[in-house]
Amino acid sequence: MFQLSKDQLTLQAKASELAKSVFAQQAEIIDRTEEYPWENVKKLATAGFMGMTIPQCYGGQGLSYFDVVLVVEQMARACATMGRISVEANMGAIGAIMAYGSEEQKKRVAPYVLAGDKPAICITEPEAGSAATDMTTTAVKHGDEYIINGTKYWITGGGVSRIHLIFARVIEDGNFLGIGGFIFIRDGEQDGFRVGEREPAMGVRGIPETYLHFEDLIVSRAMLVIPPEGLRRGFAGLMNAYNAQRVGAGTVALGIAQGAYETALEYVKRRQQFKRPIAEFQGLQWMIADMSIALNAAQALLYKAASNAGDGFPDMNEAAQGKILAAETAIKVTNDALQLHGSMGYSRNLPLERHVRDARMFTIAGGTAQILRTQVASNELSMKLPQTRDGFTRLSGKKT
Ligand code: FAD
Ligand code: COA
Repeated sequence: MFQLSKDQLTLQAKASELAKSVFAQQAEIIDRTEEYPWENVKKLATAGFMGMTIPQCYGGQGLSYFDVVLVVEQMARACATMGRISVEANMGAIGAIMAYGSEEQKKRVAPYVLAGDKPAICITEPEAGSAATDMTTTAVKHGDEYIINGTKYWITGGGVSRIHLIFARVIEDGNFLGIGGFIFIRDGEQDGFRVGEREPAMGVRGIPETYLHFEDLIVSRAMLVIPPEGLRRGFAGLMNAYNAQRVGAGTVALGIAQGAYETALEYVKRRQQFKRPIAEFQGLQWMIADMSIALNAAQALLYKAASNAGDGFPDMNEAAQGKILAAETAIKVTNDALQLHGSMGYSRNLPLERHVRDARMFTIAGGTAQILRTQVASNELSMKLPQTRDGFTRLSGKKT
């Protein structure tokens, strides 16, 4: 069903080579030191794996999200942190900017990403997680500028990213126009922009997730991604672009689980108990079979979502289905891989406990499994479900 072209096979092989020969060796160190892998990111950029989706006219390769998925899968198999960096460098914020941004915005942003900057997407706030449209960060227009105030948290790349896409409620002449996305390019210390505390995350520890505080942050009007006249549908547009990031996040979960599975396959053939390889016990064989089935199913849904996107963004329903299955499969498969190693799985000398920690985030970040199920059900039933409504339309602020 997913016949890869010659170019795609070459791309996949190139990603696999870099991931296996360089990043795999460093996964444990990155986890232990919790430091952003700047040197690896340079290698990613040199190999052409950052900004892959940026059109050729802005210096990129104009590749599809399916191409990106093939790369991300190989990266995450070797190192979860590198997998996540390759998602954020090709999907999420950069995808939204390239789809909806002005010429000026695309020309300014593209060189940063191509040179190795992983953009940060700033949506979540302390009181607005799943209910993202309840965000209170505002961008108030003053002449040719907007003044942004608010706090975001759990922002991946806080303190390391230069490009930021900040979601805020746009207010002009006292009127709320909708939720917009503002490009902010961090250049060292800047008035009004403060990187706050880092969250001590359970897994994928090579990328910081931090608070970001905006205190009268001034952003030029030219940096608003969807112009004021389109803001009524602005949030929906930005979320449409975000569907690519959801497929990417699912692919990282898949890659982590594939890595754990491969380690377990090798171990059960080697480890002897009762004078035979433990792979000969049928109970364990059935675990292996179930792991393989789940991995293949998750991969098929993600590939389907990515390939159906063509040159556009993945469909909301397909992206949600792929992410849910991959995220839940990753939790199960990494746990089973640890179990197949017995006590050695529990040791920090082997990567299994890291895989379990790394896999845990994907039913939470980027839309929880519950919220995404609501979206799938809403789509399947062709109806708006009441769970995410509270009697008024958050996007217009008016009672319905
Ligand atoms: P809550 O919304 O408080 O949810 C708590 C629980 O209630 C969950 O189980 C949820 O599923 C459930 N729940 C809530 N509403 C409903 C409902 N209507 N129906 C059923 N169940 C419901 N955000 C960014 O903006 N940028 C980032 O770069 C970013 N990176 C992240 C990286 C990591 C590692 C993590 C963990 C989070 C990151 N986030 C980021 C934030 C992430 O998107 C949010 O955590 C997520 O949207 C959930 O919000 P919350 O944590 O506030 O949970
Ligand atoms: N793809 C395309 N459109 C989307 C979308 C998606 N993934 N998610 C929402 N939209 C559209 C909706 O179709 C709706 O369009 P409409 O006005 O034409 O009906 C509009 O955006 C608002 O969505 P709605 O579900 O009505 O909003 P809500 O106020 O109930 O908020 C969400 C719910 C969208 C915030 C919630 O479902 C969600 O996705 N939460 C997770 C947030 C997240 O992923 N954060 C990650 C941060 S990195």
